[in-house]
Amino acid sequence: MTTTVERKMIDIHMHLIPGVDDGAMDMEMALVMMIRAKEQGISKIIATPHSEAFHFSKRDIRATYQNLANAAAMVSPDMKVYLECEVYCEADIMEQVLELLDLGVYPTMNGTKCVLMEFSQWVYPENTVPCVGALVQAGYKPIIAHMERYRYLRDNMELVNRFRELGVLIQINVYSLFDEDEDSIKNWARRLVLGRKVDFLGTDAHRTYHRPPSAEWGLGWLYENVEQDYADTIAWKNAENILMGEE
Ligand SMILES: [Fe+2]
Repeated sequence: MTTTVERKMIDIHMHLIPGVDDGAMDMEMALVMMIRAKEQGISKIIATPHSEAFHFSKRDIRATYQNLANAAAMVSPDMKVYLECEVYCEADIMEQVLELLDLGVYPTMNGTKCVLMEFSQWVYPENTVPCVGALVQAGYKPIIAHMERYRYLRDNMELVNRFRELGVLIQINVYSLFDEDEDSIKNWARRLVLGRKVDFLGTDAHRTYHRPPSAEWGLGWLYENVEQDYADTIAWKNAENILMGEE
C-alpha cells in the first residue's frame, strides 16, 4: 500500500457497516474502503448507517460493527472504526426520532450528545428549523450532514447563521470542495469553508464503485485556501475532541 498524500482527516460520515444500508455490501468491500481511506490520510472512521437500518436490524448492526472494528487492524494498526448513525429528520417525525435516540436505538457520536442528522434532499428552509430545534431542546447537539447538498438550502447563509446561533454544527463532504461535478454544490461548499462555517468533514462514502472514499483532492483544496489551523480544526481536531470525550 502506498500513501499518496500526507494529510490527516477523521471521517465522521461513512456508510461502512456491511450489508445494513446502501453502503458497503460485504466485509471485503468495507476493508477495501478502509484501505482507500487510509491511503488518503484517514485512520479514524465514524461509520454512520442510515437511521432506517436501526429499525430493522439493531442487533445485527452492532455485531457487524464489532467484527468490522476488530478487522480494522488488518488495514493498519492505527485504524479505528466507531459506530454512529445518520439520523433522518423531518419536522413531523421528531418525537419518534428523539425517543429512539433516548432509548439508544440510534447511537450518537461516541456516546456524546452529538447527532449526525440529515434532511430530505428536497427540504425547504422552514422545515429544517423545527428539526434542529427539537434536538437542541432535548439536549442534543445536531451536526447537519452534507450541508452543501440540499438543493433548496443552497447559498442560504442566513439559515446557516441561524443554525450556528442555535449551536448546530456543520459537516460537508470533503470531495465537494474539488471533485464535485455540479458547480453550485462545489461553490457553496467552498463558500461555507471560506466563511468558516464548517466544523467537520466526511467522505459520505458508500461503496467502492459508487461514491468511494474520496478525500485527497478536497483536502488539498482546503489546505491551499485556508490557514492551517482552521483546516486542521475541521479535518480532524473537532472530531478528535469528541472522540476523546470533549464535546
Ligand atoms: Fe450519508
